[in-house]
Amino acid sequence: MSASTTRPFYASPGLNTETYDVRTAHDLVAQGLDRDVAFYIEEAKRTGGPVLELGGGTGRVSWALAEAGFDVVLLDLSEAMIERAEAKRSAEPGAVSARLRTVRADMSDYALDRRFQLAIAPFRAFMTLVTAEDQRRCLDTTRRHLESGGRLILHLFDPRLDLLVGEGPPNPDRGSVRHPVTGNDVRIAVLSRSVDLLRQVFEERWRFAESTAEGHLVREEEEVLRLRWTYRYEMRHLLELTGFEVEAEFSSFDRSPSVYGREQIWVSRAL
Ligand SMILES: C[S@@+](CC[C@H](N)C(=O)[O-])C[C@H]1O[C@@H](n2cnc3c(N)ncnc32)[C@H](O)[C@@H]1O
Repeated sequence: MSASTTRPFYASPGLNTETYDVRTAHDLVAQGLDRDVAFYIEEAKRTGGPVLELGGGTGRVSWALAEAGFDVVLLDLSEAMIERAEAKRSAEPGAVSARLRTVRADMSDYALDRRFQLAIAPFRAFMTLVTAEDQRRCLDTTRRHLESGGRLILHLFDPRLDLLVGEGPPNPDRGSVRHPVTGNDVRIAVLSRSVDLLRQVFEERWRFAESTAEGHLVREEEEVLRLRWTYRYEMRHLLELTGFEVEAEFSSFDRSPSVYGREQIWVSRAL
């Protein structure tokens, strides 16, 4: 058994990044968000490419866009997540592989040598920016990387105040998934949560524990997730402040209108 460690979410290789795809596939279905990839492809068909994915992680969305024929840059801060995305390259046909480039950078401070027709931040990646300053820097930088009239799509959850101000993690047992390589069971639990109501940030300590079929613990790792929630009108004003015009605001990927406590899916145009 390896020693337990606590580290920032997604930052290092380990059980979190290794199980990201299986876990996320399950979570997206459970939360009614599994149409997200189809939505981003529809939007890319409307805007054209190239497409920039901010916080692109393991390439779940970026590879699908490249397969659909778009040139894509996947930008992510985590080397470990980029490694997972790069590990998929050899399974892709040469033409698809040639359309996707990965870049390690911070989405609040990056400089790329091209402009895009579409920038996207799927599955709440924008919420990993835990200060209002970083959020604003990210939007300023991204607008500069878009062609005039280019689109930005952000997906955040709409804050549910009952969940955010409650005691402890609202859902401590996150179930288990099968490790894609070892086949072992990986059990996931949220051990604790603290909430900074002033800064709109919560911090959760997650434990990932891998066990064999006989119940022997193989690895146990802890990571700290920090996310900043943003209120609907705060987000709208932030977009307007940084040179975007909001075109549409949905609460689901089937394009239903805003509903309290569901999702915020913003489609904006760079002015
Ligand atoms: C919830 S995952 C989303 C991954 C992917 N967009 C998807 O939909 O599957 C959030 C990603 O954002 C990345 N991330 C966190 N902070 C970041 C930052 N400041 N700049 C760039 N990427 C960041 C993490 O490494 C992680 O891969």
